[in-house]
Amino acid sequence: MNKQLRKAIIAGNWKMNKTPAETKSLLTEIAPLVKDADCDVIACVPYVDLTTAIDATQGTNIKIGAENCHWAESGAFTGEISAKMLASMGLEYVIIGHSERRQYFGETDVTVNKRTRAALDAGLNVILCVGELLEQREQGVTAELVAMQTKIALNGVSKDELKKIIIAYEPVWAIGTGKTATADQANEVCAVIRKVIADVYDKAAADTMTVQYGGSMNDGNADELLGKPDVDGGLIGGAALVAEKFAAIVKAASK
Ligand code: PGA
Repeated sequence: MNKQLRKAIIAGNWKMNKTPAETKSLLTEIAPLVKDADCDVIACVPYVDLTTAIDATQGTNIKIGAENCHWAESGAFTGEISAKMLASMGLEYVIIGHSERRQYFGETDVTVNKRTRAALDAGLNVILCVGELLEQREQGVTAELVAMQTKIALNGVSKDELKKIIIAYEPVWAIGTGKTATADQANEVCAVIRKVIADVYDKAAADTMTVQYGGSMNDGNADELLGKPDVDGGLIGGAALVAEKFAAIVKAASK
């Protein structure tokens, strides 16, 4: 982390976990543990938990986000939720382009770009996920692939709008597998992403861009990962569902 230049942000990605009642209880447990955080703390929760999550975190430093949004404002898209609907609830954040969306729900770089555009238009902050598959890492194309994903996702996003974007580097082989990228591997790709921002926009934009790492980050490895200069926070899956573990990661980011 380089807190002189940019914000450290720890975000939970709850995925398809927790009922509203469980959401209330987990957030009530987390809130006192993270109240003195010296980083931004976000919990991205399932759609049906959003109202409960917003209510449960009133007056705390925890911000709430959704896990996806559609690119249209409204219309015949059964089962989808628009960015405008999310913003109207008072939400501030949305995850876009998570690898599980790409892997299981046909999300492409182009739809990631459309959703990003829609989220920005609705006034939301976007946690934009990029990352390579294991075979792509083994083929030596990680840097090119992540650069391409980043560029396409940000197509049509102005330099000013970039302030509302957080990029999460999540190597797909490290998500939910217990296999964390080494701190050096994470830092290397976060630096690649920063270089892309510098090339497409400018150095000032790159310097202030928060680039998170995600993929089996936990209370045991957060210190080392967050100790790297280009790793500005984490997008946390499994460990975000356990209050003490999530709080320990927030603590590591508060140093
Ligand atoms: P994980 O998930 O921490 O369980 O690996 C991270 C993510 O998918 O955002």
